[in-house]
Formats: sequence, structure tokens, C-alpha cells
Amino acid sequence: MKLRTSLKYKLSVLAAVGSCAIAGQAVAADAAVVGNVQNARDKVSMCIGCHGIEGYKATFPELYHVPMIAGQNAKYIETALNEYKKGARSHPTMDAIAGSLSDQDIADLAAYYSNLK
Ligand code: HEC
Repeated sequence: MKLRTSLKYKLSVLAAVGSCAIAGQAVAADAAVVGNVQNARDKVSMCIGCHGIEGYKATFPELYHVPMIAGQNAKYIETALNEYKKGARSHPTMDAIAGSLSDQDIADLAAYYSNLK
């Protein structure tokens, strides 16, 4: 009997934690800028020249490796772009590109690329 009560208690604690996590996520999504995949379609023209090419190598201004961003986690892409934008991370072309993007652009692009396979 004692054992059952404690199991029941544990389950209800788990349920409470679970619903908290879900509620927390919903709040976070409300507060953040929500990315729109459709709206990203006219913005990716800036990116495909480098990120869409076979072998992921850009040839201008010199041959260098371009990371694959298709299918990456949206949060990861968003964080990377914000880091370039704010100077926490630095790369000549990405700094310039990210600097020209609004928070909405970044959210849209992150949504778009995270949905690409
Ligand atoms: C001129 C080529 C070029 C263009 C155009 C370009 N990128 Fe990049 N991008 C790069 C290179 C090179 C890197 C790797 C830089 C580094 O080492 O930090 C990079 C890095 C990134 C990263 C970080 C990836 C990682 O795994 O760390 C993201 C995200 C990204 N680019 C998104 C974009 C988006 C979105 C666009 C269009 C708005 C774009 N890039 C346009 C060349 C380009």
C-alpha cells in the first residue's frame, strides 16, 4: 500500500513537470519571433550561392569550406546568425550578410533551412 502511494505520487510529480515543460515552451514560442518558411523563400537567394552548392565549397573570394546548414536545428542556425550579426563570431561574408538581416529574417531563414532535407 505504501509502495503504491509513492508510485502514484511520483507519477503525478512527473505529470506536473511534463505539463510545465510544455507550457514553458509555448510561452517561449510566443515571446520569440516565429519563423515563416514561405517568407524565407525570397531571402534564401542570398544564401544559396554559397550554402547550396555541391561539395559546399565557395570559390569566391577564394576556395573555402562552407558548412551545410540544410536540416540543421532552427535554434542552431538562429544562434549562429545572431553571433555573426553581433560579432560574437566572425567571418567576412557571414558578418556582412547576417548584419543585413532583421530578427524576422533570421527566424524565417532558420525555419526554412531547418525544414530542408
Ligand atoms: C559568400 C558565401 C556565403 C553566403 C552568400 C552565405 N554564407 Fe553562410 N557561411 C559561409 C561560410 C564560409 C561559413 C562558415 C564561416 C565560419 O567558418 O564561421 C558560413 C556559415 C554560416 C552559418 C553557420 C553554420 C555553422 O554550422 O556554424 C550559418 C547558419 C549560415 N552561414 C547561414 C547563412 C544564411 C542564412 C545565408 C543567407 C542569408 C548565408 N549563410 C549566406 C558562406 C556564405
